[in-house]
Amino acid sequence: MNQFAIRLLVYSHKFDIRRFRFASGFLFVYNIANNIAKVFYAMKSPIAFFSKNIGIDLGTANTLIYLAGRGIIANEPSVAAVNNKTGHVLAIGEEAKKMIGRTPAHINVVRPLVGGVISDFDMTQELLRHLLKKVVGSKVFYNFKHAVIGVPSNLTEVERKSVEDAVIGAGVSKAYVIEEPLAAALGARLPIDEPTANMIVDIGGGTTEIAVISMGGTVTAKSLKIAGDKLNDDIIRFIRDEFRLAIGEPTAEELKISIGSAIPMDQKMELMIRGRDLATGLPKEAVVKDTHVRAAIVKSLKSIVETIKEVVELSPPELAGDILRRGIYLCGGGSLLKGMDVLLARELGVNTTVVDDPLTCVARGTGVAIENLEKYKHILDNPLRPRDIKI
Ligand SMILES: Nc1ncnc2c1ncn2[C@@H]1O[C@H](COP(=O)(O)OP(=O)(O)OP(=O)(O)O)[C@@H](O)[C@H]1O
Ligand SMILES: [Mg+2]
Repeated sequence: MNQFAIRLLVYSHKFDIRRFRFASGFLFVYNIANNIAKVFYAMKSPIAFFSKNIGIDLGTANTLIYLAGRGIIANEPSVAAVNNKTGHVLAIGEEAKKMIGRTPAHINVVRPLVGGVISDFDMTQELLRHLLKKVVGSKVFYNFKHAVIGVPSNLTEVERKSVEDAVIGAGVSKAYVIEEPLAAALGARLPIDEPTANMIVDIGGGTTEIAVISMGGTVTAKSLKIAGDKLNDDIIRFIRDEFRLAIGEPTAEELKISIGSAIPMDQKMELMIRGRDLATGLPKEAVVKDTHVRAAIVKSLKSIVETIKEVVELSPPELAGDILRRGIYLCGGGSLLKGMDVLLARELGVNTTVVDDPLTCVARGTGVAIENLEKYKHILDNPLRPRDIKI
């Protein structure tokens, strides 16, 4: 083509400047079309150019989206604010979370997921649409082809189906679910396909997922509805009983994150909080110590430890030996509670490691699965069966 083009240019130049312009214009357009065709060819099909695959961690506390080839591109609290009178969604994510406990009667702040299960289907779809819109931005031609979604390991078939439906309703063509502990193990880059025990404990907002994974499958697992949210509730109840003070969830979470710990720490900590005096009904301040927060959450932490013990006890002996050798991997926001890893190591006698960036571990795992869909299809296509251990 190039030789032909040069000849055309020389020939047209000899005779007429208008023909020369026409020929050079033709060449310019030809080159652009040729380059676009090459890009599409390299991407196998023009549709592939506009369709994207995503991983989703649809969490009780936070929802994250992983765009294949890019990484995590959306991360927002799973919260929506709705006007009761009109039914309009006023805010979603971070903006809605700021409204918790501060709204007038006609505005409801809802958390559409409870214990990792969809409790408000429409709001879950709104939340997903909002996050996917963030991914799309101002681009016109964009669609989502496949999505891998992390779900708790003990969901019923109906509950899993409703997660799939919510994701498809939000604009994704095909949805696969992956059990959260498996996604967490992939996100932590554990060797899940090897014949050895990978023990993962994901302490989220609504559930603590505990699983022993070997050869690409879950051997023993348990999903416990005691996690970050329950610790917040424990703190609210403790402050009400001990200080006669009513506080909201944001204050309880602040206490947990800033001065809460699973074991006594070297440094004594305290925090000034504000709430409503239960006796007078008026605003009141109080200074809360780390010992108070620890006393509030001790029972729930004990339940988590006991359930982890049960899962270890139910594991086959060879795998129990592997757990002792390889240790336990902790992830989820709850693993950031100060001293949580030390408490588990002490109570279980097993080395415990908090994975890097524990809040994004499941989302990164769904990303690994979506980017290697063929390799991990056997994990995603597993028959829908609850694997909760009945004791
Ligand atoms: N530094 C911290 N210390 C203690 N708890 C924390 C800390 N940071 C976050 N959390 C808690 O972690 C929880 C959120 O964790 P995460 O985002 O993993 O949950 P989720 O995936 O949305 O929930 P789930 O997996 O149960 O559906 C919240 O309860 C939050 O209070
Ligand atoms: Mg989670």
